[in-house]
Amino acid sequence: MSTYSIAVIGGDGVGPEVTAQALKAVRAAADRFGFGVDTHDYDLGGVRYLETGEVLPDAVEAELAGHDAILLGAVGTPEVPPGVLERGLLLRLRFGFDLYVNLRPVKLLPGVTSPIAGLSPDRCDLLVVRENTEGLYAGAGGFLYKGTQAEVATQESLNTRRGVERVVRYALDRAGQRRGRLSLCHKTNVLTYAGDLWQRTVDELAAERPDIEVDYVHVDAACLYLVQSPERFDVVVTDNLFGDIITDLGAAVQGGLGLAASGNLNPDGQTPSMFEPVHGSAPDIAGKGWANPVAAVLSAALCLAHLGQDKAAAALEHACGRVLPELGATAGPDMGYSTAQIGDRIATLVAEPS
Ligand code: NAD
Ligand code: IPM
Ligand code: MN
Repeated sequence: MSTYSIAVIGGDGVGPEVTAQALKAVRAAADRFGFGVDTHDYDLGGVRYLETGEVLPDAVEAELAGHDAILLGAVGTPEVPPGVLERGLLLRLRFGFDLYVNLRPVKLLPGVTSPIAGLSPDRCDLLVVRENTEGLYAGAGGFLYKGTQAEVATQESLNTRRGVERVVRYALDRAGQRRGRLSLCHKTNVLTYAGDLWQRTVDELAAERPDIEVDYVHVDAACLYLVQSPERFDVVVTDNLFGDIITDLGAAVQGGLGLAASGNLNPDGQTPSMFEPVHGSAPDIAGKGWANPVAAVLSAALCLAHLGQDKAAAALEHACGRVLPELGATAGPDMGYSTAQIGDRIATLVAEPS
């Protein structure tokens, strides 16, 4: 029997609430499909930082590297200045473990009502492949004359041929396993250096893949099409910041942030990949039991698929598809079910052979 060692970083706000539900579903799948799961909790996030000043001690990062995968809830809290936890913990893990693909499915599940009137599941099933280690997120930049009237702040977008090439290759492979279409999403009409590198890389690699139909869309138009006609997309490959923004929009289209999953992948398997909802710590609803755990459960499904447990992953996805029409598509004060009740129902559905 395979047993997986999974690091769990609940983090801040609703992070621990939704992660607990994802773990219930993973355990139910492990029992049903005959594999083992050893979980190891890490108390990283705002509370630890405020108590000790520690964000991610080197020794903890080294320990995390030894697990098969990481499940993360969310990090960031209003009590800690912006960036301390987001850069110091989340981005440090993405960069440090070279998790260069951020895989973000945008899929309308059966029974969920999209805010886009009349949108049906057959019209909304796309995969955003977000570059996850470079671009404006790299942290290059700085201040000059800080605090004076002459202050200058720069934030530079770093794009390497190697970084772009590997994520585009991954996206082409995913497109080949799906409907065979890849869209590059960028802003080549304005970002003429970075955009040119991305476009040339896509053109060169696409020439090796005549089975994939490749097109290009500017990021502003991509926002329009995501709302108006999401069916035009199969796989979308894009840079770090554009991917961040369009996947919150994608989350809205698929019914809300409580339903949007993501995986930070090292496709080469050299480091543990990390799975987390697209949403953050949602301080406005933390502690109320209103957070929808489906995004966390679907992220855990991506984790199980990454570990090679495809049937278990499908069971989690199937359970999410059933729980939503059964209990109502969104969590929140009007829903009548708590985060834990939805999690319990999902775990029950996962345990049942369908
Ligand atoms: P957010 O995603 O936390 O919340 C945006 C809105 O979505 C809020 O109204 C929230 O209540 C709602 N929402 C989020 N998750 C939900 C769920 N599961 N069920 C129902 N509603 C949900 O974004 P924000 O408010 O901009 O950021 C809050 C904090 O989280 C910040 O510190 C930010 O840096 C951090 N953040 C972390 C991650 C992450 O860890 N991956 C992602 C995004 C934001
Ligand atoms: C996300 C978040 C993160 C990002 C932040 C918290 C660093 O918004 O995972 O979408 O920008 O990537
Ligand atoms: Mn985001």
